[in-house]
Amino acid sequence: MKYTIKILRKEREQTGQYWQSFIYETDNSAATAASALSDLNDREHLSDADGKPARRIEWECSCLQKKCGACAMIIDGIPRLACDAVLADMGKTQITLEPLRKFPVVCDLIADRSILFENLRTMQLWLAENAVITDKMQELAYQSSECLQCGCCLEICPNFYAGGKFFGMAAVPVTTRLMSEMSPAAYRQIARQYAKHVFAGCGKSLACRNICPKKIDTENLLVNTNAKLWKLAVSCKMK
Ligand code: SF4
Ligand code: SF4
Ligand code: FES
Repeated sequence: MKYTIKILRKEREQTGQYWQSFIYETDNSAATAASALSDLNDREHLSDADGKPARRIEWECSCLQKKCGACAMIIDGIPRLACDAVLADMGKTQITLEPLRKFPVVCDLIADRSILFENLRTMQLWLAENAVITDKMQELAYQSSECLQCGCCLEICPNFYAGGKFFGMAAVPVTTRLMSEMSPAAYRQIARQYAKHVFAGCGKSLACRNICPKKIDTENLLVNTNAKLWKLAVSCKMK
C-alpha cells in the first residue's frame, strides 16, 4: 500500500509551522503511524514527496504498545496514539499527523506535556495512608490506573487549556483511584483540590467520552468522583 503522510512540522526554537509530505510504501497490513515514522527516519536519505532532502522527523515513543502515552498526536484530526493508529484501518491513503495543540510544541510532533505532571503535583495526588481496596472499588481503581497521562482527553476538551485552573480529565483517573483506596477522612484534601481544579471547571459536556486510547470510561469516573465529592461536602459542610 502506498500512503502520503502529511506532517505539520516545526523547527526547534522557532515559531512557524509548515506542512511537509512523505511517500510511504509498505506491504505490512498492520503498519501504524508509528511504524511509518520509524521507517521514514530509518531511510539512509530522507526526502519529501517532491524528492527534496528533508530533516528527520522528530516525534516521541517508548513502548510502541499503548503503554506509555509518549506517541500521542493528532492523526487525521483525532488525538490518538501513533502506535495504535493502523494505517490500513483509516480507509484512505493521505494521512495527516500534527502535534497536540493544547500544549507548547517543541518541534515537529513533540509537544511539551510537562504541565500534566505539574497539575498532578499541584493537586497533591499521592497516597496519604496505606491503600485499602475493597472488592466493590477494585474495578474502578484498576480502570483508573490505566491512565497514561497522554493528554488525548485534554485535546478534545472545550474547557482545558495548559496553565489554566481547570486541569481536565487527565487529573480525574488519579483522583478517582486515590479516592477509591483511601478513607474519606484521608482524601478530604484531595477532594478539595478536585473541587477546585476539576469539578468547578468541568462543563460536563462529555466531549472526552470515547476518546481515551486506554478505553477508560471517563463518564463513569467523573460520575463516581463527583458523587464522592458531593457526599463528602454534605457530610462535612465543605461546600
Ligand atoms: S484518561 Fe485516557 S486520554 Fe486522558 S490522559 Fe488518561 S489515558 Fe490519556
Ligand atoms: S466533561 Fe467536558 S469539560 Fe469535563 S473533562 Fe470532559 S470534555 Fe472536559
Ligand atoms: S509509544 Fe508508548 S504508547 Fe505509543
